[in-house]
Parts: sequence; structure tokens; C-alpha cells
Amino acid sequence: MYTIVSKIPEGLCFFWALFTRDPIFLVFLNRLKYPPGGPEPRVRLAFDRRRSFLYAGSMNANLHLHSRFSDGTDWPVDIVRRALGHGLHSLALTDHDTLGGQGEFLAACQRFGVGATEGVEIDCVCPDLGYRSELLAYFPQHWYDGTAKLLSDVRDKRLAYLRMAIGGAKRQFPQADLSFEGLLKRKTSGRPEVSVEQLSFNKVDLFSYLLDLHLIPSDTSYRAFKKAYLDSKLLVESTYGKPSCEEVLRVVHADGGLVVLPHGGHEFNDDAKQLVKEAKRLKTLLDYFQNLGLDGLELYWYRNSQTKGINKIFRSEAKARGLFITYGSDCHGPGSGKETLGLFSGNFKGWPEGLSVPGAAVPKGPS
Ligand SMILES: [Fe+2]
Repeated sequence: MYTIVSKIPEGLCFFWALFTRDPIFLVFLNRLKYPPGGPEPRVRLAFDRRRSFLYAGSMNANLHLHSRFSDGTDWPVDIVRRALGHGLHSLALTDHDTLGGQGEFLAACQRFGVGATEGVEIDCVCPDLGYRSELLAYFPQHWYDGTAKLLSDVRDKRLAYLRMAIGGAKRQFPQADLSFEGLLKRKTSGRPEVSVEQLSFNKVDLFSYLLDLHLIPSDTSYRAFKKAYLDSKLLVESTYGKPSCEEVLRVVHADGGLVVLPHGGHEFNDDAKQLVKEAKRLKTLLDYFQNLGLDGLELYWYRNSQTKGINKIFRSEAKARGLFITYGSDCHGPGSGKETLGLFSGNFKGWPEGLSVPGAAVPKGPS
């Protein structure tokens, strides 16, 4: 099929895509312009459903996305398919604490002619700063062995916590048939080939599992569940230790990757006025991360009227500090309450030039 399509004049393909408005057809167009295995283009063709037109645009990017490999509701292939319909040309899958979905994500991006970067959002803590949140790590050089090792330790801790929480739930609901295997089956529904090692488990998995089994009222919010069952230590006494921000930056940099501070406005209640008012605290926060070698700041979809104001502040901080900017909507997929795939993106200028793969004479593919 590709051979046949590749013989059709490109101009004709372009007009046909305009006429049919078929995003799948863009795959063929992009394959014609940018054959697989060629250099990564900085410009791609895309169809923007929101504005209903086809264009050859700059790298319209959304670099903060979650799949079912962590707490999203879509598998990577579905995210990529839908992203194409939103006119996105550059994506990064940044699941929480797992790189397990990268194989499927990269294959789907290649299939649909979308630019892809491997990434992950890592839970971490900075006790000196009182920061308990996440850092985004990106691997445009396709190497992340050290980070994968760090994340496998995190996965073991998360799993141990989850198994203890399921034990606690069994004591609370003795009539129910609860098990880790039951939760796993629900999480990987329709994908038996996905292994435990590829997944990142979290408290939302337990919440959804108990909801599915009607053990908690259907109108219970996750926040209310967490407060009543987990924060109260009703189900499980201890929690698990997270890596320090310092360790995350060190390990990702040792892999040759890049670290970005996501959704910085969250530290200031998603409020631009508070950011201005607490300029000193913002400076302390950014100085701290920059001293550890932070590479970039994220412009983010804050889901309120403050998005523009907050991003303006972070954009100007990035410029003043010589950090690069990424764009992310933190989409968790349909039905997640964070279905933001097409709501926020930006003209990404690309990753810094000259990234190297430490310890490898010849660049190696993802592990
Ligand atoms: Fe996220």
C-alpha cells in the first residue's frame, strides 16, 4: 500500500487530504515527505480539527501525557491516534514512574508520522525545600538505562505498598474477593501481554478497583477515598519512600537526559497573583533546581483562567535563566477528569543540540 501511495504526486495527496479531511491520510503524506529512518523533521503536516484546516506547521507539541501504563485511561496507540486529530506533531509520553509504555508509543508515533520523545514523570521529594511533587525527564537521545533502574526500585516499593493496602482492604471488606491479581486484571483489561514490570501502580488503581466492586459508594471522590482510607492509615500503616529531586536529576543527567520542572504554578495554588506576591519563594524554588542542573520549565494547562498569566511568568523566568521551555497539558485520557489532549500545546523549538549518550560509543535504542 505504501509503495502505491508513494508513487502518487505529493501535490495530489495534499489536495486529497484537504478534500477528505482525513487525518489518517496525513500519515501517508508525512511518510512521503519524511521517510522512516530519515532525519527527524522540524516541520510536519497536520490537520487541526478545532480550526478545520490542513497545514504544514511548526512542531505543535504536547509533551506531558499519561497512558494506562500509569494512571491514564488510554493506551499509547490511542493517545497518538487522537493527537493526530488535534493537529499535534510532537508528543512525549510521560507516565508516572514508568517507561514501560515507550515501545508501544514509539511504534505508534512512527506508524502515524508523529514526532516522539521518550519521557517519564518521576515522583520525588526535596525535604530542604518542602517540595513534594514531580520532575519530568526526557530522553531525546534514546537512552535511559540508569533511570529505568531507579524506576524499577520505585516500582517495587509501590507494589509492596499496594499489596499491603489490598491486605488492609480485605480486612475492611471481608466479604469481598480482593486480590492483587484481580486489580492487575482490571488494569490491563484487554492487554494480557502487558507485564507487571511495565506498569506503575498507584492509589487511584486501588480506588478504581474498590469502586468497580461496589465496595465504596459510586459517588465517592478519589480525594474523599484517600482521606478516609489511606491518609487515615485505615488500610495501610506506612507509606513508601520516594527518591530525592537531587537523585532524580543526577540519574537522568547520567543517562544524558533532560529534566524539566512541570506545572510550577501548582506550588502557588495555580494563581498568577500569588506567584507575583511570592516572587521571593519562586526565586528560591527555581534557584534550588537550577543549582541542581535543571534544564527546562514547563508551560502548562492549569485548567483555570490563570493559565496565561502563570505561563507568562514561567516563560520570562526561563528566558532570564537560560532554560528551555516545554508545553504540556497533562492529559490522562477520556473519563479521567483530565482529558486535555487537544486543549493545550505549543510551538516547541526542539531539544538542545549535541545531546550525547554517556558510556556508549554507538547510540543504542531504548531498553
Ligand atoms: Fe503529569
